[in-house]
Amino acid sequence: MKFMTSPSPAESPGNSRIVDYDSGFDYCAFWGNRDYEQWVEARILRRLLPRLGHADWFADFGGGYGRNAIHYRSVAKNVVLVDYSVTQLTRAAQRLGTEIAAGRVHLIRADLGRMPLIDSAVDSAMVIRVLHHMTDVDRCLTEMSRTVARRWLVDVPIKHHVLARLRSLRSGQSGQLRGPTPIITGSTEYPFYTFQLGAVRQSLRRSGFRTHTAASVNNFRRWDQVLPASLVSGLRPAVYSMELATQRLGRGWWGPSQFLLATRSRPREVSLRSLAAETPAHLSGLAERTCCPSCHGNLSWSDAAAHCTKCGRSYPRRAGFWDFTMGLPER
Ligand SMILES: C[S@@+](CC[C@H](N)C(=O)[O-])C[C@H]1O[C@@H](n2cnc3c(N)ncnc32)[C@H](O)[C@@H]1O
Repeated sequence: MKFMTSPSPAESPGNSRIVDYDSGFDYCAFWGNRDYEQWVEARILRRLLPRLGHADWFADFGGGYGRNAIHYRSVAKNVVLVDYSVTQLTRAAQRLGTEIAAGRVHLIRADLGRMPLIDSAVDSAMVIRVLHHMTDVDRCLTEMSRTVARRWLVDVPIKHHVLARLRSLRSGQSGQLRGPTPIITGSTEYPFYTFQLGAVRQSLRRSGFRTHTAASVNNFRRWDQVLPASLVSGLRPAVYSMELATQRLGRGWWGPSQFLLATRSRPREVSLRSLAAETPAHLSGLAERTCCPSCHGNLSWSDAAAHCTKCGRSYPRRAGFWDFTMGLPER
């Protein structure tokens, strides 16, 4: 994998490597010639997001530049988009400027394994195309789960999909596809992880969620990249129909992305933080749902920064987003 065409890993304060998309990789351009994948994901999000129920507060974990914002506008009143990448968040701030100004969307820079959100801060959430970057997926799933009160959508890159099974027959390495250990591909510098679906479901169960495999997605990934353009337009209707059929029939085994609906077994109420008198009114909803990612103390908010009243750390507002990565201690 070459540096300029791949997302880059950064060291997080907790020492886990974060693929932060900040070193020249153009994630917007990546979507330039991926009509099939765009169509597939738009379709599945339109179908599954309403099943989360209407959310007063919704989180897009690893939301990048806000590519999927169009899909949760109709199911969420307020949105928190959490990502580690300065580049993606800066872009998101430009794309979602109107909603940010209206106080409907809040952009937060944080590690998904250590977020400034209180328990059950949001009613529902989603994490799309992110887990394959996670060196410590259990820690991140536990942390994301902690902040969800009701239900969320989890896109799991699985290691045992049909194509991987066929490839493993050829290479004689089918043993790797069994068991809970993730498979690492890519390079040591830029690893990509794929998981056993059962292991991810178990991790979510430990965090208090029952899961349902709602769809197998991207079942014919890159078909339009490998075939000649002259064939692609003719085959498109057939492949799109097959995609829709396998989204249901291939649940749990066919496609590389399996979408889980995770529902909290015992619903939890959020216990909002009390607000300091000087909290700006347009930040009050966010302020009630956030805490210091380092010590979990209360934050006092101004338009320029959130300040922890317990440990004294300050988290500044940068170009349109709140930066909760600054000055965190090693864990
Ligand atoms: C492939 S992009 C997906 C973005 C978006 N969900 C989408 O579907 O377009 C992966 C995103 O995850 C973010 N990311 C990866 N690991 C993260 C972590 N540990 N904490 C926060 N963000 C992370 C990256 O910065 C990047 O924006």
